[in-house]
Amino acid sequence: MRFSDEFLSEVKDRNDIVDVISPYVDLRIRGRTATGLCPFHNEKTPSFTVYLDTQSYYCFGCGAGGDVITFVKTIESLDYTEAVKALAERSGLPLPADGFDSSIAKMKRRILDANREAARFFYKILYSPEGRKGLDYFASRNLSKETITHFGLGFAPDRWDGLLRHLKSMGFTESELIAANLAKKTQKGNVIDVFRNRVMFPIIDLRGSVIAFGGRVLDDSKPKYVNTSDTLVYKKSQGVFALNFAKRGTGKTLILCEGYMDVIAYHQAGFTNAVAGLGTAFTPEQAKLLSKYGEEIILSYDSDEAGQKAARKAVKILSATPVRIKVARLQGGKDPDEILKKYGKEKMREILSQAVGEIDFDLQRIKADYDLSQPEEKIAYLGKATDILSDFSSSVKRDVYASKLSSELGVSKDAIEAEIKKKARQKAKRAGRAFFEKAAVFTDESMKRVNPERQKYPAAAKAEETLIASILHNPDFYYKIRDKINDDDFATSLNLRIYRLIAARLEERKSTDITYFSQDLSPEEMGYLVRLEAMRENLGNTLKECTDCIKRMKEEKEEREQKKPSQMTDDEWLNMFKRKNDQ
Ligand code: UTP
Ligand code: MN
Repeated sequence: MRFSDEFLSEVKDRNDIVDVISPYVDLRIRGRTATGLCPFHNEKTPSFTVYLDTQSYYCFGCGAGGDVITFVKTIESLDYTEAVKALAERSGLPLPADGFDSSIAKMKRRILDANREAARFFYKILYSPEGRKGLDYFASRNLSKETITHFGLGFAPDRWDGLLRHLKSMGFTESELIAANLAKKTQKGNVIDVFRNRVMFPIIDLRGSVIAFGGRVLDDSKPKYVNTSDTLVYKKSQGVFALNFAKRGTGKTLILCEGYMDVIAYHQAGFTNAVAGLGTAFTPEQAKLLSKYGEEIILSYDSDEAGQKAARKAVKILSATPVRIKVARLQGGKDPDEILKKYGKEKMREILSQAVGEIDFDLQRIKADYDLSQPEEKIAYLGKATDILSDFSSSVKRDVYASKLSSELGVSKDAIEAEIKKKARQKAKRAGRAFFEKAAVFTDESMKRVNPERQKYPAAAKAEETLIASILHNPDFYYKIRDKINDDDFATSLNLRIYRLIAARLEERKSTDITYFSQDLSPEEMGYLVRLEAMRENLGNTLKECTDCIKRMKEEKEEREQKKPSQMTDDEWLNMFKRKNDQ
């Protein structure tokens, strides 16, 4: 059975690869990768790696790899269709009949309807005797009645099935409420409310639909917040709280906070351009979304160690977007909510106006570690500072900060600039070496096994692989090079096959997420594709890189086609001889 792209993408979205793999492999998550002992071969040290961002896995020991579908297929020895069905079932996704797409659309509507009714219910409860403690809690956090109404805040009653009964009486089914993540099944098989005895924060998208909720406890118990997990209408990694209000706010600057309460406190004080990421660390998807609505983003994270660390990460993620980044220093309180409460909005306005750019933020942070009256410490600081500046390719930025450092430290600007240049050169060199080393890893046994021809034509294979990786990450390039490349330019048939599969999808302007290839490639070949995709860090991501690869492939082809004189017929030899003499 051939599944539609919509269905496959839904299956993938609903089955996080870490969740699916976890029962089989004890995974240790570090940053955006997770590692563990490979379930497909015997090993003592973990070489099985899961990539969270691309939702793929690869074993450096045996070469198994692929997406979530390939994993289930391999581990459960299922065929492709059975694996897709198993995952669909696991995530409560109705199996595709002909009317699949419309049934998804219908389910989405039901979820949004259920969410809207749930928000009304929570709001009504807040003003009933049962919600008294919620109202008291909001009062203790200084929220006005207007603010509560504006944000549609509410209270989830301290019952197992308060919302459930209410929504069932309105005609919603249990399975709809589970799909909305408003209800859940317990291990004993009972269906109960997800949110109980919590103050409720609805999350509203730009169209005004309630897409999710956050619920906070009233005391210090854990977990502090319960959030809606991913549903058909909501992806946590893309959610931004209060963007629906901030969008209409004061123009081009957004204030990015860590928590719901910070955002609400900001808005109540008149800063209606405050937003927050939701329930997770700040993600690239959120950054992308924000960069559509703001030209400048002021980070207003908690002043504690954790908050500052999170701010540094967010700065990095935001650096990949065109927004201007500033970082506010919240002195005198742990978070914006507390500062507004303690010192009021004028003080906050001052803090925001003193927010510094990302470079100053970095410099200030390290400067605190040094006593600049000591020559030794001054030199050490200068070393760190020039290191930071050497990461910026803009010569204007470098110049501005070299001047600043020069007058601040009484060191000549020329000397500082020379140091920055030297560091930048060293880094470029290191990056070049790293590329070489990474390329060498590529020769592991499994890669040779899947694509035996790459042994024979290593240079051509590398060009082919770089080309494929670049097109996977920059589909736009494909349309610019498609006429420049022929099937016989490929030296290895697997790379050609993969290129053709990708090209076929791009010709139809379809996504090239690796999931769509798991039907056509074996698990070993999927592993190979994951490796190609993971070349991301080594790519230049330029069109020139692609055309260089093609040029190289064509040169290699000529070389392949040229036979050695000893293998030529007499005629061939004579022809070559003539050609040479003509030149
Ligand atoms: P904080 O712990 O700083 O909470 O987490 P807060 O919003 O400032 O709440 P108060 O002021 O203590 O009442 C920041 C954000 O991280 C997410 C929430 O989105 C929260 O707003 N978070 C935190 C969770 O999702 N779950 C948790 O258990 C804790
Ligand atoms: Mn906080």
